[in-house]
Amino acid sequence: MSGSNASAAKSVVGLILTAIVGIPVFIYLVVKLFTSGSGIDLGSNTMTGEAVAARLQPIGSVKIVDSAPPGQRSGKSVYEAICFSCHATGLAGAPKLGDAATWTARIGKGFETLAKHAIEGFNAMPARGGAPDLTDDEVKRAVAFMGNAAGAKFTEPPVAAGAAADPATKGKEIYASLCINCHGTGVAGAPKLGDKAAWGPRLKDGADSAIAIGIKGLNAMPPKGGYTGSDDEFKAAALYMISQAK
Ligand code: HEC
Ligand code: HEC
Repeated sequence: MSGSNASAAKSVVGLILTAIVGIPVFIYLVVKLFTSGSGIDLGSNTMTGEAVAARLQPIGSVKIVDSAPPGQRSGKSVYEAICFSCHATGLAGAPKLGDAATWTARIGKGFETLAKHAIEGFNAMPARGGAPDLTDDEVKRAVAFMGNAAGAKFTEPPVAAGAAADPATKGKEIYASLCINCHGTGVAGAPKLGDKAAWGPRLKDGADSAIAIGIKGLNAMPPKGGYTGSDDEFKAAALYMISQAK
């Protein structure tokens, strides 16, 4: 590439960068101008309000945590895989890990409220941090982990132990003995194992919700897929399939 082409390319890149950074700031300022009578107040909560939320909405993105068996991840590992991307730096007004100043008032809302906000979403905070495969308990563990890092005394919901010590292995076995008959090839519209596009919309309300639907049955999916063992075992099989949807 000649020198002049290179500098032309650079100025195009510069223009694009200016547009990427400039347009949202411009929109924010315009929104601010029309929504506030008292001029521009950059220090207020509007930075975490709708304007920011709209820009941060994960558009069709499905993040999947890939360490540790599904459903069994600790608060720390969920934090490190998902939540850190905003909560490590305080992106968009996210309360920073270990920063008591930004956490104390939130901790005062109580664990149940914080967990509900983390599961359902709260302003610029996306539901489940944008990772729909997380179970409610996994999100709660991450909330406890983050709260405790700022001085709270929350208890992480326990990770199943003992007989169900390795639900991932059990789940895989049940899948291979039964669910594979339909989910292996996609019989009658069954979402195929490992098919992210087929699983994505089913996981939009979280893994727990998809599992509850599977337990009840849905169209050609018989209740529990015809499995005669416990709900927990069915859940392990479903979580195995969900963990492969990436
Ligand atoms: C895309 C960025 C982003 C990710 C990823 C993210 N958060 Fe947040 N989170 C935020 C923002 C921004 C806020 C502040 C929202 C507000 O107060 O308006 C927030 C606030 C919270 C709060 C406080 C809610 C309240 O009621 O004050 C909790 C709890 C929380 N997040 C948990 C989590 C957990 C758990 C994860 C990972 C599973 C996570 N977040 C991932 C951006 C994020
Ligand atoms: C006889 C075929 C069949 C078997 C066996 C089967 N499934 Fe399904 N399953 C389906 C079909 C078909 C759907 C899609 C139903 C629809 O959306 O109309 C489905 C959907 C699902 C869903 C998604 C529910 C939702 O929210 O959309 C889960 C979870 C699931 N199956 C789990 C399992 C598990 C775990 C097993 C094994 C224990 C299993 N299935 C065995 C046919 C089957």
